[in-house]
Amino acid sequence: MGGCNAYESKRMTEVTGETLRPGGFRLTEKAVRLCGLSSGDTVLDLGCGRGATVNYLYKTHRIRSIGIDPSEKLIGDARKRYEFADFVTDRGEKLPFQSEHFTCVFAECTLSLMEDLNAALKETFRVLKGGGKLVVTDVYAKNPQEVDGLHPFAMNSCLRGLHDLTKLEKTLRETGFAVSYREDCSDLLKELMVQTVFTFGSMAEFWNVTSGNCVDGWRYQEALKKCKPGYFLMIAEKEGTSCG
Ligand SMILES: C[S@@+](CC[C@H](N)C(=O)[O-])C[C@H]1O[C@@H](n2cnc3c(N)ncnc32)[C@H](O)[C@@H]1O
Repeated sequence: MGGCNAYESKRMTEVTGETLRPGGFRLTEKAVRLCGLSSGDTVLDLGCGRGATVNYLYKTHRIRSIGIDPSEKLIGDARKRYEFADFVTDRGEKLPFQSEHFTCVFAECTLSLMEDLNAALKETFRVLKGGGKLVVTDVYAKNPQEVDGLHPFAMNSCLRGLHDLTKLEKTLRETGFAVSYREDCSDLLKELMVQTVFTFGSMAEFWNVTSGNCVDGWRYQEALKKCKPGYFLMIAEKEGTSCG
């Protein structure tokens, strides 16, 4: 995908901290609890960015996970920071793993960035064992009919790919998943936006800075506002024999 990757900007971590998403590890921790994950699980962190969740899962729960991400820059950072862990440079649309290998896949603020969401979900389904869980935390549009207004901007941020939740659930079902949990977590996005305005002066300035002035931050923010962005946690299960 062409354009500017806001999430590769070091300035983004001034507001997001170690992770590159709203809420830090709060939803990661909740998902660990809801999925009943333990050190016996084999986890994939899809779109792991700088590897923060891979580190968190191991340091906090002794859960080993593999991180995968197409960004050489972010994966390079992850490898330097967390030498104990495995990181792979590749894309979610074609996962270099055997079928039925993982018991859980985390996709934290990454499905919104997939060039081909259907292919990424099919691949995720393939690499999960029966009964395995997909944890999605991501942004969605409360006004999905306005999302096309974001497409002309050469900006790669998860907010550019705001989900339509009805469509996402339908695609998950068609892929073979059963959605077992869904929670609106828009407060975490609001919290991050307030923090961003305190740090950068305005959302528009944040987009200017993190995109390296690749987009007009003010126009981008206006287009975003029309979509009414929200944030959610969803857990979907691959139907089949439970992997206990
Ligand atoms: C907003 S960042 C989130 C990173 C990390 N999950 C976190 O929360 O800290 C989005 C990540 O998705 C990755 N990404 C973009 N396109 C992808 C693709 N096709 N397959 C897998 N990851 C992708 C980006 O490189 C980036 O690291």
